[in-house]
Amino acid sequence: MTAAITLHQPRRLIVGAGTIGEVGGLLGTAASTLVIATPITAGFVDRLKLSGKVEVFDAIPGEPDIATLEAALGVARKLRPQAVIGLGGGSVLDVAKLVAALWDGEQTLADVAGPNKVLGRNTRLVQVATTAGTGSEAGIRSLITDPVKGAKIAVESPHMIADVAILDPQLTFTVPPAVTAATGVDAMAHCVEAFTNKRAHPMIDGFARMGFRLVGKYLARAVKDGADTEAREGMMLASYYGGICLGPVNTAAGHAIAYPLGTRLGLPHGLANAIVFPHVLAFNQPVVAEKTAEVAEALGFSANTRDALLDEACRFCSDLDIEMQLSRHGAAEDALAGYAAEAHANRRLMDNNPADMSVEDALAIYRAAY
Ligand SMILES: [Fe+2]
Repeated sequence: MTAAITLHQPRRLIVGAGTIGEVGGLLGTAASTLVIATPITAGFVDRLKLSGKVEVFDAIPGEPDIATLEAALGVARKLRPQAVIGLGGGSVLDVAKLVAALWDGEQTLADVAGPNKVLGRNTRLVQVATTAGTGSEAGIRSLITDPVKGAKIAVESPHMIADVAILDPQLTFTVPPAVTAATGVDAMAHCVEAFTNKRAHPMIDGFARMGFRLVGKYLARAVKDGADTEAREGMMLASYYGGICLGPVNTAAGHAIAYPLGTRLGLPHGLANAIVFPHVLAFNQPVVAEKTAEVAEALGFSANTRDALLDEACRFCSDLDIEMQLSRHGAAEDALAGYAAEAHANRRLMDNNPADMSVEDALAIYRAAY
């Protein structure tokens, strides 16, 4: 028996080149709209073809914290928007979810931290993804950094689902090759870690399969030619499917091991996950051999042993020009034991892993990646 699960998806999903231009028509009745963006993605605002009063808040950093959210909420409370548009990557979309849900209510971030605490939402929410990696546009979760505690506050609520999500590949044309590669592997990791998860579910397996097959087909092309519309669209879909995998099933040891590389070493999330991915894929292989073989086939590997799988998966990433050695990213060898302890203590994700992973196992993975 598989456990019961609940899946939330945007009410309307629009996929295709140039579809950002449909947003204005869809929001035709909104008298005022707040666009959440970064200084770079703010350049796409005209393509939304909005009418009525439009205000752009573009002060969203890579890791949005409590102050970022407060500043965005302050702008919303002045404007009183009928619609909030997230126009960016995962950080932007996460902030947009919270602004749309919280600006006109009494609840604070502390009030809504955790699952199902948000009371409701009156404002329409449109999520326009400009990267292919996090799949944040697909889901109901938002992560905000608490700089005092050095931890992420997770908010999860059905009231944070998008009314409209847009996957327009043209918006990702200018994402640099290195970022395309790392975030593409991260999207694949969301699919693979859900697929081989202890809490795996047949329905989510279907989305995961679509996701990692698309990565096998299109990621190298998207890295090579940023304006390859078909490849870029394939990667946006892979990212969206990964986002669906993150909802009811979530990730496992790969993301647990990648987190300290982000929080302590400062590596971007996608890169940290790309470095870790081959090692965890190989580590789990004996326990989930059939599913791992499906992943390997989708990525074009011919490996039939654990060692060969590790080699081929590492080569898959280095062929995308991802620097896979931790030492080259400034990691100190004597810091690895601390990373391993921290990763192992992340039971929320580690308990999802199909194979039990000890602190020593985690350390061996950091050493192998070193
Ligand atoms: Fe990720």
